[in-house]
Amino acid sequence: MSKMWAGRNAGVTDSLADDFNSSIRFDCKMYKQDILGSIAHAKMLCKQGIISETDAEQIENGLLSILEDIESGNLQFDMSCEDIHMFIEAELTARIGEAGKRLHTARSRNDQVALDVRMYLRDESKKVTSLLEKLISVICDKAEEGACAIVPGYTHLQRAQPITFGHHLMAYSQMFLRDIGRVRDAVKRMNASPIGSCALAGTTYNTDRSFEADLLGFDGVCANSIDGVSDRDFCVELMSAYALIMMHLSRFSEEIILWSSWEFKFVELDDAYTTGSSIMPQKKNSDMAELVRGKTGRVYGDLMALLTTLKGLPLAYNKDMQEDKEAIFDSLETVIMCLEIFAPMVATMKLKKENMYRAAQEGFINATDLADYLTKKGMPFRSAYKITGEIVAECIEKNTVLDKLPLEAYRAHSDIFEDDLYREISLETCVSKRISEGGTSVESVLKQISLVRAAVEGTK
Ligand code: ARG
Repeated sequence: MSKMWAGRNAGVTDSLADDFNSSIRFDCKMYKQDILGSIAHAKMLCKQGIISETDAEQIENGLLSILEDIESGNLQFDMSCEDIHMFIEAELTARIGEAGKRLHTARSRNDQVALDVRMYLRDESKKVTSLLEKLISVICDKAEEGACAIVPGYTHLQRAQPITFGHHLMAYSQMFLRDIGRVRDAVKRMNASPIGSCALAGTTYNTDRSFEADLLGFDGVCANSIDGVSDRDFCVELMSAYALIMMHLSRFSEEIILWSSWEFKFVELDDAYTTGSSIMPQKKNSDMAELVRGKTGRVYGDLMALLTTLKGLPLAYNKDMQEDKEAIFDSLETVIMCLEIFAPMVATMKLKKENMYRAAQEGFINATDLADYLTKKGMPFRSAYKITGEIVAECIEKNTVLDKLPLEAYRAHSDIFEDDLYREISLETCVSKRISEGGTSVESVLKQISLVRAAVEGTK
């Protein structure tokens, strides 16, 4: 097929080169943004007297009919076109003739593609943030269900102190709230219109970039035309936010996988989100969580790929930049897919509270509270820490736990110990007394849940 840019070049390229060069198979996703961008461009050209009203009207109607036909399945993308921009312009000209050829006045594909990608990402980011909101609300519901469930809290994956399961889950709600903030911040910075930067230098036509930006819902225009066509920071920024979302999902997945194991048995995933083994009949595998964890590497890879692509590029546009799309689309789609599966997986996850409690009874997770008991009765914390360590060693030797060691044994270490120690080191007390802000007590967790729910409502 002869190229739209035939002129200086013969417009006939090797067919392998055509395939290599072409981006329509992935940038066709942006058909809608491309069409809406072009309608706004035609309106601006008309308002400025650069094209006639009749031409502008024909262009708009032609573009709307193309949009309709694509969406109803009546128009297929022509994969022999170089990209979505060329396809739509060619189709428009085929439909309306001369007027179609006037559309590309005072713009270039360099600012057009920069515009389309920004508009596309702006639209898709709303999906990402609303899925994050959904997940946070599922986490809040589950945390409410597990608000009183005592479970060991871990450091170094060693049992550390008793916490409530709700408290643990609510930690993730904070991470996902920050993720929403990061996506929104990136979108805010990205929301400047590059259109009208043209190839790189601006244009000699009397355009009105602000008018066009306004029509398209931008907060303003890119202030430097070279930057307007060269900038892909916004992709990197969003992809960094996606990488962090995945990092959070991946840590959460890892815990769900551990909690589902026979060794922990703190939760049971619904059958809908697990698989069996083809050989081992007893298996119930957490494949969805594992895949989310696995796909995290892929999203990190996309981010690294784009950073690396951009690092040596001279200003302004270079064809290398066409590589931005597959990376950003892949990471965006992966994040969306993972968030879509994650929320219902968590929502349907059963909490095995008895197993959590049983685990909390072992492992001396109330040792800090025993040391605090002595400290509150006047012993310096370091001495209390040492004595408690010795008592733990004695329990291990006698194969017992702190709650069951007789008072005489305690008093052999210090006569500060009295009968009230057992109440002080009970798991319930350990949890209910941790009333510090953000701590693990039931009231604190319920308060966190209501604050997070309000925060989600407030950001909408
Ligand atoms: N398909 C191209 C891309 O995605 C569009 C811009 C092409 N511009 C150019 N001067 N070749 O980057």
